[in-house]
Amino acid sequence: MLAIDEILSRYDPSTGALDGKPAVRRHLADLRGCFADVRAYESALERGNPLVYSVAAVEPARGEGDLGYGIGLIVPGKVGREYHMTKGHLHAWRPAAEFYFGLSGEGVMLLEDEATGASRMVRLRPHEAVYVPGHTAHRTMNVGAVPLTYLGVYPARAGHDYGAIAERNFRGLVVESGGQPTLVDRASFIP
Ligand code: F6R
Ligand code: MN
Repeated sequence: MLAIDEILSRYDPSTGALDGKPAVRRHLADLRGCFADVRAYESALERGNPLVYSVAAVEPARGEGDLGYGIGLIVPGKVGREYHMTKGHLHAWRPAAEFYFGLSGEGVMLLEDEATGASRMVRLRPHEAVYVPGHTAHRTMNVGAVPLTYLGVYPARAGHDYGAIAERNFRGLVVESGGQPTLVDRASFIP
C-alpha cells in the first residue's frame, strides 16, 4: 500500500500550490520563440522579465498504469495581441492522453494533431474538463484578467517533448480580436 502522502494531496485552486511540491517557474525570457509578434516580445523583455506561469507536478516513476498530475498557474497578461501562454509540448510517449480541469480563471487550450496539423481552440474554465488525446500538441493560455489555474492528469510515463514544438511552433495562434480569443493561422498573422 502507498504512503498516505502519495495517496492524498492538497492543492490550492487559487494559487496553484500543491502541498510539499516545488513549482517550475517560467518567465518571459524562457518563452523565446513562442510568441509570433517578435517585436512585441522583445520590447516586453526590455521592460522586465515577469513570471508567466508555474507548474507543480507529482510524477511517480512507477508502472505502466500509474498517473501523474500537475497544477499550472498562468499569470494574466499579453504580449502584443497574444495571451500569456505555456511553452506547449507533445508527450514523449505519444499515445499518452491527458485530462485538463479548469480550477479558477479563464483560459483556452490550443490543440494540434501531430499527424494532420489540424488545430482547435478549446475553452478551459472551472467546472469544465478538456480531453487532450494522444499524439496532440497542447498549449494553454490565460485569456482573462485574473490568474488561471488548472489540473492536468496524465499517464506517469507520458513525459514531455518540447523539441518538436520549439523547432516549428504551433500552426495556430490565439490572439485577441474584438475582445475575444480568436484562433488564427500563424503563417498569415500580421501583428
Ligand atoms: C503535463 C501537462 C501540464 C504542462 C503545464 C505547463 O503533461 O500538460 O502539466 O506541463 O501546463 O506547460 P508546458 O509543460 O508546456 O510548459
Ligand atoms: Mn501534457
